[in-house]
Amino acid sequence: MGEIQNYIKKNRKKFLNELLDLLRIPSVSADPAFAGDVKKTAQSVAKSLKAAGCKNVIINKTKGHPIVTGELIVNKKLPTVLVYGHYDVQPADPIELWDNPPFEPVIKKVKGHKEGAIFARGACDDKGQMYMHVKALEAMTKTKNVPCNIKFMIEGEEEVGSVNLESFIRKNKKTLACDVVLVSDTSIISNEVPSITTGLRGLSYVEVEVSGANRDLHSGVYGGAVANPLNVLADMISSLKGKNGKIRIPNFYDDVLEVSKKERAAMNKAPFDIKEYKSELKINATMGEKGYTVLEQTSIRPTLDVNGMWGGYIGEGAKTVLPAKAFAKISMRLVPHQDPNKITKLFSKHFNALAPKGVRVKVTPHHGGEPAVTPTDTLEYKAASLAMEKTYGLEPIPQRSGGSIPIVSLFENILKVKTVLLGFGLNTDDIHSPNEHFGVENYFKGISTIPYFYEYYAALKSGKKIRLGSEKETKSKTKKVQKKLNVAKSKLTTKPFVKKL
Ligand code: BES
Ligand code: MN
Ligand code: MN
Repeated sequence: MGEIQNYIKKNRKKFLNELLDLLRIPSVSADPAFAGDVKKTAQSVAKSLKAAGCKNVIINKTKGHPIVTGELIVNKKLPTVLVYGHYDVQPADPIELWDNPPFEPVIKKVKGHKEGAIFARGACDDKGQMYMHVKALEAMTKTKNVPCNIKFMIEGEEEVGSVNLESFIRKNKKTLACDVVLVSDTSIISNEVPSITTGLRGLSYVEVEVSGANRDLHSGVYGGAVANPLNVLADMISSLKGKNGKIRIPNFYDDVLEVSKKERAAMNKAPFDIKEYKSELKINATMGEKGYTVLEQTSIRPTLDVNGMWGGYIGEGAKTVLPAKAFAKISMRLVPHQDPNKITKLFSKHFNALAPKGVRVKVTPHHGGEPAVTPTDTLEYKAASLAMEKTYGLEPIPQRSGGSIPIVSLFENILKVKTVLLGFGLNTDDIHSPNEHFGVENYFKGISTIPYFYEYYAALKSGKKIRLGSEKETKSKTKKVQKKLNVAKSKLTTKPFVKKL
């Protein structure tokens, strides 16, 4: 294992530069104008997988963007880990809000990142995190230290709902067969407090259109008599949520799994500073569902948000117009056991019923996804936890996330395997926003931690015990962090020895 870590240390510059090269290709999956670049990115990923020692590397064509697969089978008797990630990125808009061009990566100093951060679209989500796995593999193969079989499936349509992935997985069940899926596409609590994501929210996403008259009208000549679709849409949307933050779509909460008091108490022990949260976002108050903490509001509770709303005149100056149409994109984040299709239907029915007589309403569903919860009592969770404890010096805290990775539930349903969400980003990395970045330290922590995961996973699977370090060492580390973060009561504990599992 020392050899692997030495290889990583020696190749820091190379590993960093290669990621910067990958970030230079604008693989925006949502915009057809970038289709050529998305393809180029797939080719680049395939090339780097081959160079890292991966065999059978294939760029699989789909109806949309390609899926890159590969494998390194060292011994059929050993367990197999399937690494999933995505090489596509979100659009960079609004480009004018970036301090540096989104596809010309730079490393800059920034709060919370001791070694600076890489600024570029996709730096954290997910090129940087996906590439950690490629570099970890390289370090393992070059030092001849691969403790289990490793397969890769890196897709190019995650940010547009993974529309072609389900059929690909169904058709390639054998090629993708594995014991566990490993994904780095989530966050940790902070660089001092590691965590493992144990839940993801689901998603229902709709686009709505409200139409009034057959054409745009003079807002003086017709205004006051003819329905204004923008006014109506604003009314309809504002009625969707009550003052208490509850969603007012009938039957919306029917299937929501209420989390037990005990589990909620444990959840709220995780270090979280509301003052810091507000000051970092420059807001005076949060505004969520009554009766729940921010950590709960963003993980175990469903939400409804307008993602964009448009219509009428939005150019320079003033134009007096009564628009013929108004539009909005609305997302609903879902929790176990809400069904995205059912929720989309409930929304559609309710939204149509809300419309006053003077307008017509159209609801178009976009991609959705199921929520997921990953267990903490499995060998793979233990291996991930130990790997993080090894590199951070602290046992990671299990934490549910508010984001969505719909494919996780498909792995469970189709491949019948669990997923480990071993992410290394920070919530403040501005993914999907201008100035997305990924800490240099986070990138290398990921590369260093991943080989330990394989080692511990293979060892635990074969019934071995793992010893991380002396009890004294880890106790004093825990104390230090507790003091620094002022979370004396939190459950920041370390377990230096892993007893027989
Ligand atoms: N990596 C994110 C999901 C994520 C981010 C999970 C942070 C946990 C913490 C992923 O790329 C993403 O953006 N997913 C979309 C859903 C998808 C269907 C477009 C999302 O969550 O909005
Ligand atoms: Mn992602
Ligand atoms: Mn994303």
